[in-house]
Amino acid sequence: MGLMKFLVTGVAGFIGAALTEALLKRGDEVVGIDNLNDYYDVNLKKTRLDILQKTGGAAFSFFPYNIADKEAIFSLADVCKGVSQVVSLAAQAGVRYSLANPYVYMESNGMGFVVMAEFARRLPDLKQFVYASSSSVYGGNTKTPFSVEDPVDKPVSLYAATKRGNELMAHTYAHLYKMPCIGLRFFTVYGPWGRPDMAAYLFTSNIMAGKPINVFNNGKMRRDFTYIDDIVSGVIGAIDTPAKFSEGELPNRIYNLGNSRSENLMDFIAEIEKAVGKKAVCRFLPMQAGDVLETFADVSASTRDFGYMPKTPISAGILRFVDWYRKYHDVGA
Ligand SMILES: NC(=O)c1ccc[n+]([C@@H]2O[C@H](COP(=O)([O-])OP(=O)(O)OC[C@H]3O[C@@H](n4cnc5c(N)ncnc54)[C@H](O)[C@@H]3O)[C@@H](O)[C@H]2O)c1
Repeated sequence: MGLMKFLVTGVAGFIGAALTEALLKRGDEVVGIDNLNDYYDVNLKKTRLDILQKTGGAAFSFFPYNIADKEAIFSLADVCKGVSQVVSLAAQAGVRYSLANPYVYMESNGMGFVVMAEFARRLPDLKQFVYASSSSVYGGNTKTPFSVEDPVDKPVSLYAATKRGNELMAHTYAHLYKMPCIGLRFFTVYGPWGRPDMAAYLFTSNIMAGKPINVFNNGKMRRDFTYIDDIVSGVIGAIDTPAKFSEGELPNRIYNLGNSRSENLMDFIAEIEKAVGKKAVCRFLPMQAGDVLETFADVSASTRDFGYMPKTPISAGILRFVDWYRKYHDVGA
């Protein structure tokens, strides 16, 4: 028996696998769910899963289910006996893809989220339902840094709308069933085992191959880039320090998890060029539909409530990412 037992969805994903590895290493037990869909290279997901199986042994169990499939999820009631927290990370991610394939966002982030919430609220030992939200809920907000107190009712992509929808649904579950809900708004996560559809990966692979990289809005964009280890310690902080609610308070909280620095996109590219040892060929393009100009996290509530302290500057994080990329793809220095 592990220290604590968790149910993690999206366990073969970038953040889910990194979180689960950390939980298994400290002796927790994890039931993992992931449908291993082919939004990006399935081998990357399977390799992450192999590592979890090796690390966790009997403390890790895996179910290749779709979270929108309620019969499949509810069949796990026995397996999930003793689960004290659900960490709901499975979702269709990506802002740009939500213009191309809107329906899968409703399936995974709409129906899937509701199935997980319905399942979670029936778990007898549940202490918290923790779920992934996103910095994209801030839409075109211009007051920076973005605070969890700011209005977030103007999403500019369907992805953002589904994530904001999750936060509103969490409010409903907290209200109706007193299920404690913790939403974590992640800000552009990067690092080893990262997603092939995201900037760090795309830029690194094209710069190495001497291919041009697409730089939107002529490079005039700012992002709060967060290193994966900082995200994992943030999620673990939220898990280990369950929110305390006062009498009569709705058990529902939302937190930012970012690096709390707004970086110029061109500076981010320069760090990759340095780590790769090669100049990028930039293809400057206009702003993409659904995108936002800037993200920048105010993490003071996360620091106050569970000690969140991001500590990886992009210079260090990018070096570690490029190092991993070279080993994973077997490309020499
Ligand atoms: N990476 C970021 O920068 C970032 C930023 C903001 C929010 N988020 C959110 O954090 C969470 C994790 O993101 P990630 O970067 O690890 O993405 P990811 O795509 O690597 O991981 C998500 C995992 O969920 C699985 N999944 C998707 N739909 C599913 C379904 N219907 N049933 C079962 N499994 C399903 C996928 O196969 C994948 O392995 C997501 O909810 C994402 O929206 C990520």
